[in-house]
Amino acid sequence: MIKYLVGDPRFKTIPKSTRKLVITWARKEFKNLSLMYDVGARVPKPIAQYENVLVMEFLGEDGVRAPLLKEVTLESNEYEEIFYELIEDVRKIYRYAGLVHGDLSEYNVMIYRGKPYIIDVSQAVKTTHPNSYDLLVRDIGNLVRFFRSVGVNTPEVNELFEYIIGEKLGELSEG
Ligand SMILES: Nc1ncnc2c1ncn2[C@@H]1O[C@H](COP(=O)(O)OP(=O)(O)OP(=O)(O)O)[C@@H](O)[C@H]1O
Ligand SMILES: [Mg+2]
Repeated sequence: MIKYLVGDPRFKTIPKSTRKLVITWARKEFKNLSLMYDVGARVPKPIAQYENVLVMEFLGEDGVRAPLLKEVTLESNEYEEIFYELIEDVRKIYRYAGLVHGDLSEYNVMIYRGKPYIIDVSQAVKTTHPNSYDLLVRDIGNLVRFFRSVGVNTPEVNELFEYIIGEKLGELSEG
């Protein structure tokens, strides 16, 4: 936890007690989730945070959670669509929320009503964080690895990186 809090201007003093650290962590997840939700990224709607408890929209039906990306089997055109939707959300999160997820993979994406929802955002860091580029490259690399493994012809990581940080405009080409 400390590694992801140090260097974040929102959390200037890092608590020393474990209890306070956990509460800070819940606050951090709530802030990250709210920022992502507010820029229109597909994440569960944040509802409330009190001490160590974070309440958010439940993705699922009748108390049964929706599956993770890791757990579903889809058609190749569906995988391709989901890949590009995730890239657009990573871009929105980077450019407009000023955050990098930092633990993005097929284990932290849920498929709900056919759409990918990014979850588990407590460790997300500001784009000004010293590790933000490395974490972004790792996130993109995880998506590329997973989607290639299910047959999607993705662009290269460096091309996606440039598209997300916005130093190159225009369409992505297939890899
Ligand atoms: N909004 C949600 N609605 C329904 N289920 C959810 C939601 N958020 C998370 N889950 C379920 O809870 C699991 C754990 O959530 P999350 O990834 O945020 O935490 P984690 O720290 O990775 O926990 P773990 O180590 O147990 O996977 C997810 O894999 C998913 O199955
Ligand atoms: Mg997780």
